[in-house]
Amino acid sequence: MKLAIGSDHAAPEMKQALISHLEGRGVAVVDTGAFPEDEGRFEYPVIGCRVGKLVAGGEVDGGVLVCGTGVGMSLAANKVRGVRACVCSEPFTARLSKEHNNANIIAVGARVVGIEMAKSIVDAWLDAQFMGGRHDRRVDMIMEIDSTGGLQDES
Ligand code: RB5
Repeated sequence: MKLAIGSDHAAPEMKQALISHLEGRGVAVVDTGAFPEDEGRFEYPVIGCRVGKLVAGGEVDGGVLVCGTGVGMSLAANKVRGVRACVCSEPFTARLSKEHNNANIIAVGARVVGIEMAKSIVDAWLDAQFMGGRHDRRVDMIMEIDSTGGLQDES
């Protein structure tokens, strides 16, 4: 299991805590920044796009994004074709984001949840499996919108 992780200037401590947590679980982590030496130069769209490209390109198995709210990161990552990024503030939604929506990126807000809750959110997403079945068609529909800009069949 290899995950990419990224944060903006609002969340370096949470990113570091999540890296340690993931590595403690035996997950290989690719840190895409931002790094202290970047001195806040990289805004959340840059990092969201970086992680999104690694995930969509299959270079990693998934991604973790952290910014102030998780919203900007997830919006940016979702603009990369093939990404299904969900921002979550609790583990239930995080688990369902994988089971039902096959989310390949989880985003959290460092100004919204504490570090222990962020770990629980990431764990819930990581431990869950996509259920397939009735959810396949729905996720396929999302990916059709992603690749064509719409849906051929709205029934
Ligand atoms: C930065 O101030 C903040 O806007 C950013 O971290 C994030 O919350 C955006 O969605």
